[in-house]
Amino acid sequence: PVHNGQNLRSPICCIMGHVDAGKTKLLDCIRGTHVQEGEAGGITQQIGATYFPAENIRERTKELKADAKLNVPGLLVIDTPGHESFTKLRTRGSGLCDLAILVVDLMHGLEPQTIESLNLLKSGKTDFVIALNKVDRLYGWKTCPNAPIGKAIKQQSKDVMIEFNMRLTQVITQFKEQGLNTELYYKNKEMGETYNIVPTSAISGEGIPDLLLLLVQWAQKTMIKRLTYSEEVQCTILEVKVDEGHGTTIDVILVNGVLHEGDQIVVGGMQGPIVTSIRALLTPHPMREFRVKGTYLHHKEIKAAQCIKIAAQVTVSFS
Ligand code: GTP
Ligand code: NA
Ligand code: MG
Repeated sequence: PVHNGQNLRSPICCIMGHVDAGKTKLLDCIRGTHVQEGEAGGITQQIGATYFPAENIRERTKELKADAKLNVPGLLVIDTPGHESFTKLRTRGSGLCDLAILVVDLMHGLEPQTIESLNLLKSGKTDFVIALNKVDRLYGWKTCPNAPIGKAIKQQSKDVMIEFNMRLTQVITQFKEQGLNTELYYKNKEMGETYNIVPTSAISGEGIPDLLLLLVQWAQKTMIKRLTYSEEVQCTILEVKVDEGHGTTIDVILVNGVLHEGDQIVVGGMQGPIVTSIRALLTPHPMREFRVKGTYLHHKEIKAAQCIKIAAQVTVSFS
């Protein structure tokens, strides 16, 4: 769709950070799902993807800014594992995205995979927002479900704020040691040079409106050219597998362009290129995790950015 005369695709946002910082739980909180509880050992072991339409983002941010301009169709969020053994998947995720959320556990500060993720983002020159997560774990935190962070902070006692400020200062110092200036986003006067911190809770939802709005507004403001639709299709394969009922399927992230049912596609195989055509274009429902088995929506055509299961016309064999 054309929004305000601009023809923008959805930005792709990767969520990264140390194991158990709360990446999947943050997405669960936005989606209203329980994906994290279904993970083996509570550990993410695959790349995930979820599409958040602009209408849902509007709903979630209206208390913060009811008249915010949302010029993008939505936001595609890529979940990545934080466990040390999945560097490859983190590299892949960060390579796909336009911007990122770096999740830091407020009670732990910067950890080894926080720094690894940070270095991946730096080397890709990818902009990011820091979610300083688990604010609800501050001793005496008064829960304000799904509230903008400013409103939630106003409800807290002096003691809670002392602990919050102490931990925040530690995290800012740790980022400084990594060569990065960071500041609470609502105090940041040098956007672009000083990275933004948004305090969040994935359990009670404080700060989620701020995180969503900041991401969308930042993308719209600084990435117009990058987010403008190209005629050329740009697509990354996540996985090829045989899916019950759909035959051979190719899970992809459509980064740019449009795909149609019947389009001929070329897939790089082990024995050279494989030519096939799109029998069906399937996506999970909006606000549902791609890697969790569920029902799919069928599309005649689909615009970027999206996570898509392509049912192929012929059997593509990978050995
Ligand atoms: P990996 O994908 O395995 O790297 O972990 P993750 O970053 O996705 O963290 P996950 O969502 O699995 O959360 C780890 C644990 O922290 C779970 O037990 C969550 O319930 C808990 N948790 C996550 N966010 C919060 C939060 O904001 N507050 C509190 N109290 N607990 C949280
Ligand atoms: Na986890
Ligand atoms: Mg996870």
